[in-house]
Amino acid sequence: MNYLVLGNWKSNGDQKALTAFLAEFSPVNRALIDGYRTGIAVPYHLIQAGDFGSAWVGAQNVSAFPPGAYTGEITGGMLSELGTQFGLVGHSERRHLMGETVEQTRAKLENLQQSGIYPILCVGETLDERNQGRLHEVLLAQLAALDIFTKDSSFAVAYEPVWAIGTGVAATPADVADAHRFLRETLAERGFGHVPLMYGGSVKPANAAELAAIDDVHGFLVGGASLKAGSFGEIDRAF
Ligand code: G3H
Repeated sequence: MNYLVLGNWKSNGDQKALTAFLAEFSPVNRALIDGYRTGIAVPYHLIQAGDFGSAWVGAQNVSAFPPGAYTGEITGGMLSELGTQFGLVGHSERRHLMGETVEQTRAKLENLQQSGIYPILCVGETLDERNQGRLHEVLLAQLAALDIFTKDSSFAVAYEPVWAIGTGVAATPADVADAHRFLRETLAERGFGHVPLMYGGSVKPANAAELAAIDDVHGFLVGGASLKAGSFGEIDRAF
């Protein structure tokens, strides 16, 4: 099992911010510990803008299309050429703000895999969906994108309840444990028992240790708190 602590800078940051971050950031040197990894999904223009040391550098999106006449799209091959090591797919902001569909997430996962970039599928329910008792139904629908993978495929799943993202209020440990158990069991039935399950949604230094201690939580996807080297470093050390 791999353990992953990954930051997601979203559409934040510039060269100055990255340089300052990298000067201060000292990740647990997970590259030296088999199965552990720290990384940051920066905006595209920062992928080659610094020395990330032992940390992975990632992209927050990828084209759903092959190379060709798709103006503005960045393919898996292009990301690979930039040295991108992991890629996020299906983040709730892409699903809900950009209307990304399960079919698109499937194509994006495939593009990353074919380019040798480690894919991370983000899944999660809105508050309305949770209140309507549709958590499992929503997760199952989003997990359908994984049908391009085989038992030997290398990828991760990040559970990010939409209502916990950027709100400062993380899901309770009980909610996280329930959702991750369901995801683990569902993935195991499909031969994906080896897949790391990350949690994302208002992870911060104050709650990282408690969340990291939950069974079936193998990492974090961290938004706001990954922008500061100090807070991201504290979260990184929670596992
Ligand atoms: O990708 C990260 C998630 O959207 C979580 O963001 O830590 O700011 O809540 P957040």
